Amino acid sequence: MATRAKNKDTPAALLLAWYDRHRRVLPWRAPKGQVQEPYRVWLSEIMLQQTTVQAVGPYFAKFLKKWPNVKALARAEQDDVMAAWAGLGYYARARNLHKAAKAVAEMGGTFPATYEGLRELPGIGDYTAGAIAAIAYDLPYPAMDANAERVIARYAAIEEPLPKSKPAMRAALHALVPQKRAGDFAQALMDLGSAICTPKRPACLNCPWMEGCEARKLGIQEQLPARGAKAVRPLKRGAAFVARDASGAVLLVKRPENGLLGGMLQPPLGPWTEDFPSKNEATKQAPFKADWKKRTGVVRHGFTHFELELEVYVADVAKHPPVEGRWVARNRLKDAALPTVMRKIIVHSH
Ligand code: ADE
Repeated sequence: MATRAKNKDTPAALLLAWYDRHRRVLPWRAPKGQVQEPYRVWLSEIMLQQTTVQAVGPYFAKFLKKWPNVKALARAEQDDVMAAWAGLGYYARARNLHKAAKAVAEMGGTFPATYEGLRELPGIGDYTAGAIAAIAYDLPYPAMDANAERVIARYAAIEEPLPKSKPAMRAALHALVPQKRAGDFAQALMDLGSAICTPKRPACLNCPWMEGCEARKLGIQEQLPARGAKAVRPLKRGAAFVARDASGAVLLVKRPENGLLGGMLQPPLGPWTEDFPSKNEATKQAPFKADWKKRTGVVRHGFTHFELELEVYVADVAKHPPVEGRWVARNRLKDAALPTVMRKIIVHSH
């Protein structure tokens, strides 16, 4: 490859110059020229996996207020962490967050300062280890998330579909990461993916990488990254049981620690199968005998690998039947560890 005439023309230098003019102000981002502390980088990166910048903002602020550093988070009760996370989704992240906080607290409260050390913490994969190494420690690692994949697939015209193309993308990105300002480079790529190199109609004329972009030269930038055929998400159905006492308190049970929505609360639910249970079957699935009334309509919720539809049965009870679970007062429901789908069920029960 021909050596570049000037350092300021390398792809990294072009991107950093663009970033210096157009960088977003974000709650977890250090002011220009400063480095963010690892706790904030880690917390925000875990929250931002699969979640939008807008959705994360209030949660990031809430967590920092409750637990201003990793030792404070390590001392928290797991249930309080899950309750504070409720609504953000992908709850294994919250369990691993708490586990990792405890591990870091045991190391004296300082995050590992190497990619390998970070990678060993619960919940930290290649992307997050790279992002923290780069953003908190300015180490020259790539942070390869879906945005970076899109930018790199286009820049290097990687036409092989995802996920097979991941190693090629990683290698192409790694080659572009500069030795200095790796943290700014990682964040610049995120901003480029969000503002310019968007999934639809990328704004190529405004892009600092327009000249070098191989997909743009071929006119195929909107077709990349290519993806294998999408799997159809199966539909599962079941019944939910909302029991209410005279004060409006609702019976909630805790889900098993592992698996989908692990450790979170829910109204009692029947099994999820191909079809809704008949009224008769539902009565058998209910947590106790009562005059269960089915609400019209269904609650629908999309998970990563399937869609869920639930019919909602409601019973008003005069006194608490002797069943497992806790009765949560109506005004306490907003702070309970209730995932979004479970909140929808309670809303639908009214
Ligand atoms: N997506 C993942 N990490 C991010 C970050 N630090 N800033 C903005 N968007 C992101």
